[in-house]
Amino acid sequence: MIRTILIHPDPRLKKACEPVAAVTPDIGKLAEDMLETMYDAPGVGLAAPQVGVMKRVLVMDCIKDPALAPRPMVLINPSVTWQSEDLATYEEGCLSLPDQYAEIERPAEVRVQWTGLDGTLQEEQFSGLWATCVQHEIDHLDGKLFIDYLRPLRRQMITRKMEKLKRDRARDAEGRG
Ligand code: NI
Repeated sequence: MIRTILIHPDPRLKKACEPVAAVTPDIGKLAEDMLETMYDAPGVGLAAPQVGVMKRVLVMDCIKDPALAPRPMVLINPSVTWQSEDLATYEEGCLSLPDQYAEIERPAEVRVQWTGLDGTLQEEQFSGLWATCVQHEIDHLDGKLFIDYLRPLRRQMITRKMEKLKRDRARDAEGRG
């Protein structure tokens, strides 16, 4: 089931999420819905608060080449256990900030530990787009957006654009109703 993606500004996108206590069937369904929603958008990552669920769950798949097999990943309670001193800059976007992009600098490589859907502890080192994506999504679980790395003026400009987008969408929905 495709879920509605929250658009910034929304108080749920600014709050830290609760750890998942147990990997229940509800969490499995949430992860399945989040992957479907992410692929549909389309995007390379999605965090649970973006669909209004305040739990520490994220999904991602940074395989962009359609010739390669997809790699849907579900990370429950993820945490960064190591980060490289080397930094990398990527132009980031976010499904909660449609059509907004900015160059953000982050550690080029990170090691992340998480619980899988099968309840086992997993760990992997990420680089390239995967490293950027996993850090961006973990930020979401802490109530942080990529625009929080920008200067206040630029952040305010983007926020105003998003407020207008939400007003326009609400008005269009009314017009259809
Ligand atoms: Ni995002």
